[in-house]
Amino acid sequence: MRHKILVTGGAGYIGSHTALALLQAGYDVIVIDNLSNSSKVSLERVGEIAGRNPLFIEGDLRDAALVNQIFNDHPIESVLHFAALKSVEESVREPLRYFENNLVSTMTLCQAMANANVFNLVFSSSAVVYGAPSIVPIAEHHPTGQTTNPYGRSKFMIEQMLADLAEADPRWKIAILRYFNPVGAHPNGLIGEDPNGMPNNLVPYICRVAVGTLAELKIFGNDYPTADGTGVRDYIHVLDLADGHLSALDAIRKSGGTHIWNLGTGQGNSVLEVLREFEDISGRPIPYKIAPRRPGDIATCFADVSKAERELGWKAKYTLNEMLRDAWKWQSTNPLGYK
Ligand code: NAD
Ligand code: WQD
Repeated sequence: MRHKILVTGGAGYIGSHTALALLQAGYDVIVIDNLSNSSKVSLERVGEIAGRNPLFIEGDLRDAALVNQIFNDHPIESVLHFAALKSVEESVREPLRYFENNLVSTMTLCQAMANANVFNLVFSSSAVVYGAPSIVPIAEHHPTGQTTNPYGRSKFMIEQMLADLAEADPRWKIAILRYFNPVGAHPNGLIGEDPNGMPNNLVPYICRVAVGTLAELKIFGNDYPTADGTGVRDYIHVLDLADGHLSALDAIRKSGGTHIWNLGTGQGNSVLEVLREFEDISGRPIPYKIAPRRPGDIATCFADVSKAERELGWKAKYTLNEMLRDAWKWQSTNPLGYK
């Protein structure tokens, strides 16, 4: 019998790519998503590529009756928990909505898992938990919690909650994955990142300028202490990230407790480097202007990925060129995303 995996937030950007990787690896996939930031077309496309469909349940993770029912109805073996609200800027304006959605959905999920004796959990955390790093590359044991916004605090609080769960009951097997900057799309251009409204993140923003739905990029600051003055980040291809989840799932099945792994490439690239590389790939000029620094932004952030390499046998394979090539393929073949 195939193992059944519950993927929360599986219609979203990273969840849909990971649901595909799971199906391709032979798992059965059940997705729960309230479609608050996604479209179910993503899952239809996932089914098209994989040659078989994930089971899609449209619903909210905070609905305890529904979540318990899902575990009663299906022999779920493990859970990959992507569902969350993720806009830093929105979280500053609407902190309660962020804490309520992200914390209550995780608590409801964990309670339903415990009720059903399901203890394998992979959680989507973020480099945001490190706040402003005092040194790079950032390793998992570096200080966390000095996060500068409610979104980041919600991730940090969930990490602590999961560590307490694992401490209280050794049946829990939890992987906390701290993603750096996920970008790119499936190379076939069928699935990709389709943020609602104005994109907050660099690569989706550049894609929309290239496709003509936004006029110009604002570069948030060129006076950082970096080689060209613009912010440096560790961009990672979403396919590498998806693959990292499969490795983490394998690893926690074999050992108990809580594990934390950074998922990044270990390389930093500046905003201007990303922009120039994107222009080369797309053949489109990206008009930009230098704007003031974005509040809460940091100069440089990239991962120490040696723990994931050593313990998971996982390493990111895709280059920045391939990430941007695939992001552009997705955006240029789907100028309006899934709409
Ligand atoms: P996304 O918004 O595309 O996907 C999240 C999905 O969760 C969406 O489909 C949304 O509809 C769903 N969702 C939200 N609240 C829900 C609820 N209460 N019940 C059911 N479904 C709900 O975001 P993504 O980029 O795919 O991010 C996935 C996860 O990875 C999130 O937890 C995010 O915080 C984390 N993360 C993302 C990034 C990034 O840059 N994309 C970086 C680090 C961590
Ligand atoms: C990258 C660089 C910007 C947009 C955010 C979250 C983090 C994680 C990933 C979820 C920075 C610059 C950006 C623009 C710009 N998400 N930029 N103009 O800020 O590293 O991380 O997404 O967990 O929590 O904070 O990513 O893509 O927004 O920015 O100049 O229009 O691009 O200043 O240097 P960031 P980003």
